[in-house]
Amino acid sequence: MSEKLFESPAETVRGTKPYFERHIFFCLNERASGEDCCAQHGAMAGFERCKQQVKALKLNGPGQVRVNKAGCLDRCANGPVAVVYPEGVWYSYVDTHDIDEIVESHLKNGRLVQRLLIP
Ligand code: FES
Repeated sequence: MSEKLFESPAETVRGTKPYFERHIFFCLNERASGEDCCAQHGAMAGFERCKQQVKALKLNGPGQVRVNKAGCLDRCANGPVAVVYPEGVWYSYVDTHDIDEIVESHLKNGRLVQRLLIP
């Protein structure tokens, strides 16, 4: 079951529309030491799929969604992870189906994907 988010939290705080409505940051951290990291669990594939789907649904661009790369987000044990702002909602994903659901449900319609949330 999903939960409806409020329409535009940044607008509520600032009184004006933000340049981007939402950002999603993907941890793409890769450790040269070989230690466990999001890059070892398909993070780049998740990032690329998200960019592709956001563009395909025409959600990219000013006033909409920005898909960003990030270094370690300090949620390594749950990796691979992504976080959506301004809501500050964290997801752990496994495959392209998960990414597609985050794009369609959260980034497009503002509804959380409960099954992928991490606290
Ligand atoms: S390596 Fe991805 S959160 Fe730390």
